[in-house]
Amino acid sequence: MMIGVLTSGGDAPGMNATIRAVVRASEGYNHQVYGIRNGYRGLIEDDMVLLDHQSVSGMLSKGGTFLGTDRVPEFLDESVRQKGVDNLKKRGIEALITIGGDGTYKGANALSRMGVKTIALPGTIDNDIAGTDYTIGFHSAVETIVDAIDKLRDTSQSHRRCSIIETMGRKCGDLALFSGICGGAEFIITPENPIDKEAIIERLKKHKKEGRRHAIIVITEKILDVYELAKEITEQSGFASRATVLGYIQRGGSPAPADRILASRMGAYAVELISDDIHGVCVGERDSRMIHLPYANVIGQTRPKNAIYKLIKKVS
Ligand code: F6P
Repeated sequence: MMIGVLTSGGDAPGMNATIRAVVRASEGYNHQVYGIRNGYRGLIEDDMVLLDHQSVSGMLSKGGTFLGTDRVPEFLDESVRQKGVDNLKKRGIEALITIGGDGTYKGANALSRMGVKTIALPGTIDNDIAGTDYTIGFHSAVETIVDAIDKLRDTSQSHRRCSIIETMGRKCGDLALFSGICGGAEFIITPENPIDKEAIIERLKKHKKEGRRHAIIVITEKILDVYELAKEITEQSGFASRATVLGYIQRGGSPAPADRILASRMGAYAVELISDDIHGVCVGERDSRMIHLPYANVIGQTRPKNAIYKLIKKVS
């Protein structure tokens, strides 16, 4: 069988490891794999390359995605998608494995309705995909954020400051939640755990009285202007505050071991599913086991609030 693989949306550490797993697992079934460049754009533009054992050598530890990625809003248009379907047919590609976030899943679902055998794998640092406990890239991004928090604590302590750290994550607070717990943050503000400014100000006033030298606030992006928040906290609590927006650094770097394992398992599982003629599904990890669910159960669904939110009150 001829299988296509692409990465789409925001890149995530572990995407390369996933492509590698797809290629290596396919060898066992004698499938041939085409790498499609720059997400759905490569599908439309017929920009594809045959991948073999050697083409993915050394990819396990590499950040980013060597196939490239893109956000392709025009893919919502059926006539544009048809070009992609025609290009797949022309090359004899029967099945497509897509690695990305919610937008990628929507594209895979739409292609599946047009007769392409698709499987979607969760590749995003945000951990915002329903139907899986973890997405590929999340653990690596948490590691990067925790490293930044540790460094920011050093300088905050030296200067007796409160450090506000903004993470990515869009509508999902898991990056802030996990890194905040790992980094010993006093406050973790996420879409699921809204800000209580009064409580922050009161606690920081108390901190100051007690002679504490630093405080850490971790907050998900797009909630508020963190520079403004730093100003308000400084003025109202007397505890000097500084904000740091971590930005795209969170998406780069070599994947953490947990992501390498997840990527390898999910890539191999997707090939297994396709070989069993199972498609039109998304792959996930639930309680350490590989699962697959229909697109309808996952796309646009909100993940339940993470159980570790309970930890915030206990340990922060
Ligand atoms: O989806 C991953 C993500 O990194 C989000 O956390 C962030 O909001 C977004 O991508 C940024 O996207 P772009 O690369 O289009 O600026």
